[in-house]
Amino acid sequence: CGIIGYVGPLQARDVVLDGLTQLEYRGYDSAGMALLTEEGIYLRKKVGQVSSLRSICTEDVDSHCGIGHTRWATHGGVTDANAHPHVVGRVVLLHNGIIENYHAISVQFGFEGLATSETDTEVAAQLINYYYDKTNDPYQAIRNAIRIIDGSYAFCIMFDDRPGTIYAVRNVSPMVATTASQGAFIASDVTALIPYSKDYFVVPEHHILTITADGIRVETMDGEEVQPEILSVNWDVEAAQKGGYPHFMLKEIHEQPEVFRKTIRPRLNNGLPDFSQESIPDDIFRECTHIQVIACGTAMYAGMVGRAIMEKELRIPVTVSIASEFRYDTPLMDQHTLVIVVSQSGETIDTLAALRLAKECGCKVLSIVNVKGSSIARESDYVLYTHAGPEIAVASTKAYMVQLAVLYLITARMALVRKKDSEEAVRAFITSLEKAPDMIEQIMALDETIRKQAEKLAFAHDAFYIGRGMDYAFSLEGALKLKEISYIHAEAYAAGELKHGTIALIEPGVPVIALATQDKIFAKTISNIREVKARDAYVILITKEGADVSDDVYDIHLEIPIEDDRFTVFPCAVILQLLAYYTAYAKGYDMDKPRNLAKSVTVE
Ligand code: G6P
Repeated sequence: CGIIGYVGPLQARDVVLDGLTQLEYRGYDSAGMALLTEEGIYLRKKVGQVSSLRSICTEDVDSHCGIGHTRWATHGGVTDANAHPHVVGRVVLLHNGIIENYHAISVQFGFEGLATSETDTEVAAQLINYYYDKTNDPYQAIRNAIRIIDGSYAFCIMFDDRPGTIYAVRNVSPMVATTASQGAFIASDVTALIPYSKDYFVVPEHHILTITADGIRVETMDGEEVQPEILSVNWDVEAAQKGGYPHFMLKEIHEQPEVFRKTIRPRLNNGLPDFSQESIPDDIFRECTHIQVIACGTAMYAGMVGRAIMEKELRIPVTVSIASEFRYDTPLMDQHTLVIVVSQSGETIDTLAALRLAKECGCKVLSIVNVKGSSIARESDYVLYTHAGPEIAVASTKAYMVQLAVLYLITARMALVRKKDSEEAVRAFITSLEKAPDMIEQIMALDETIRKQAEKLAFAHDAFYIGRGMDYAFSLEGALKLKEISYIHAEAYAAGELKHGTIALIEPGVPVIALATQDKIFAKTISNIREVKARDAYVILITKEGADVSDDVYDIHLEIPIEDDRFTVFPCAVILQLLAYYTAYAKGYDMDKPRNLAKSVTVE
């Protein structure tokens, strides 16, 4: 969910609506806003995108203090009533997270039957209002409620008899805040703050914030003031705008060469990988006997490619785990396990919980994160930031690309440190890696061909992605991209496994996106492609340039300009991203905001 709060000289309605528009990628089932005015609370909530909310906020309201929310439904359906903020008595509250004991609280305090929504959130508003009625003190009311509430939360709270003040408190769920010349702001992420300030701080957990036009006070639960560390972002407001592209997703696909260079260049020294600026000790690379990668979604699929390259280059076992599974497993790890956590947002709750578990097991955690100062970055022992800038489209593209870049850099550094390869071989590996952005640029020239294929794909109900080895690892992400934005059922299969069941689904015309970029298994993959071609599948084949393949195995053949098998993921990823993008485009979908998804999943 997206959160924005503002107090200051500007009209709060405009700041809140603009902030929600910036944050919409965090959730877009419904949106709501509450403003404190002299006449009382102005509350508007609406199912749909922020534009729907905007269309019902047409009255002239003079307010300089307000909060707003874009929702990604967890408890309770997508209705106006379930949208935030929630008003109970004198309390107005919005929430990102999940209150686990909401039912127990409701029973214990006799709130049952009084709710106007089906959300867990309303219970928090009821509870704070209950204590506010008793104490007339916002701090006591918040503290008492927080003691009882179990779960994750970022709350922004206003009291209708305390104009000009927003209170905020969080546990796990992220929030950032800033004071700028135009007032004081709080938000679920920096994207909403950037138009006002590049400086911000991460709201510390279990502290109460008092936000007024004079600034923001941060205090512990005991009332002691603390000074949070000020961070700054190294991108500006244009980075979070479409810049002439029809969609953020296309813009972000096109940004990949640039962000790739930004991510690897500062880590190269004399042609070799060097993490000394990040103070990452080589011991963690030298002494580990096992690597455990943990992530969710696209980041996890980046980890799958990481495993393929690491096992090949380093001859060290690498396990990739889905964070939501890992966190409830009994992990097989010890101090010799190097844990690599991958996350664009740095806030995915399952990944964060898995990180905490890894640390409890005594492992050192190195994270690959895009968002500076995020929870995962802060809690890891070491961080390698990806420099993708803000990724707004819900389907990840450029963040995946730079996660791969960093996994390749780690591989190279480990090869050097573990003396797996000569300096010369590592230098050659890095030279190839540095060529990836140019290759990506060349792939963009296939745009028109890919678009035509996508127009065919748009009619499909199912699509299959097949490949072996590394090709299988990147086809997983290709299939995910297609399903998440075009809603076509898409699955990736190890090409050799297809015949053990899934081939039953191949009918005439079913699209099969076949990747055969690995010399060692090229002939084997081609045989598998023949198996689907024999059943009249429509085959989109991707190989290296000049691959020897007869034209009866494919319907369309896309060639990537590359020789070294180890780096084919970079151009292939772009083809698969564009294929998904143009398929969603042909179907008329809003691929920046695919249904049911959210960019940053801070609930488990
Ligand atoms: C969500 C997003 C995905 C993303 C995943 C992990 O599901 O929609 O695009 O890959 O979370 O997010 P993270 O921020 O941890 O990389």
